Amino acid sequence: MDPLQARQQMTLPEFRSLRDFIYAKSGIFFSESKQYFLENRLSKRTTDLKLRSYADYLALLQGSEGPAELKRLFVEITTNETSFWRNPPQIEAFQNIVLADAARQARERGQTRLRIWSAACSSGEEPYTLAMICQEVKDTLLRGLTVEILGTDISEKVLAQAQEGSYNSYTLRNLTPEQVQRHFTPQTKDLFQIRPEVQRLTSLRNFNLVDYAGYRQLGFFDVIFCRNVLIYFDEAVKGKVLKEFHAQLHPGGFLLVGHSESIHSFNTGFELLHFSKAMGYRKRS
Ligand SMILES: C[S@@+](CC[C@H](N)C(=O)[O-])C[C@H]1O[C@@H](n2cnc3c(N)ncnc32)[C@H](O)[C@@H]1O
Repeated sequence: MDPLQARQQMTLPEFRSLRDFIYAKSGIFFSESKQYFLENRLSKRTTDLKLRSYADYLALLQGSEGPAELKRLFVEITTNETSFWRNPPQIEAFQNIVLADAARQARERGQTRLRIWSAACSSGEEPYTLAMICQEVKDTLLRGLTVEILGTDISEKVLAQAQEGSYNSYTLRNLTPEQVQRHFTPQTKDLFQIRPEVQRLTSLRNFNLVDYAGYRQLGFFDVIFCRNVLIYFDEAVKGKVLKEFHAQLHPGGFLLVGHSESIHSFNTGFELLHFSKAMGYRKRS
């Protein structure tokens, strides 16, 4: 059957109710031009659940089975595109400037741990990129510091992939053969498992960035990466999330956002840093 014909049609009122529900639960905002996207992502789910309309799907989400279905909804509606070494100039700035400065500040504060948060880590490529970099300098730049990289996401599906730590050669395309050899064990001709010493630096958990009460439990960080997720939020949610990041960073700590994401318009208490071909922010001390 033509998949377009098979797709369950979403009415405008249904779209608006679902859109408002999704926004309240995740901060992800769909403008009216995205009705097709939502219909596309949720049509199969409503069919699988044998529901007759998206209004029935919303009722399910709001009922006793809501919490379980909400996890499923997050899997369906999120865009999880990511890659190792994404935005190389920013990763290089982390490697060459941010890490050394964060380590220096951590030592000056008497910390024994350096904590880095990959907020919205998708299938693990971002936190593992940071872990590989840290692993390579653990006995030099990071000597005496224990590194902890926390990867969080709202989608259980990508977190499970990150936990698995197994990637195909296409996914590893941005890494040099030396990096692949150093940090991965071949499993099959086309599958590579991240090595335990890199994986051990990383812990993964589900965290919803609009769970404003939950941030305190995550503790304080020296560096926060939050790349390519703020674009899905509106200004109100972005402002609140940035406020929480600010609260969870040590003074002088770094915030690295995606290259198309600017936080200039927010009075956030961060100063802008210009690296070669990349930007970042530092919490004013
Ligand atoms: C495009 S990926 C970016 C992954 C990675 N940071 C990068 O730049 O390559 C966006 C991720 O944000 C996650 N996400 C969306 N809304 C979220 C929320 N409210 N809380 C936590 N994660 C969220 C999605 O599940 C998705 O994996």
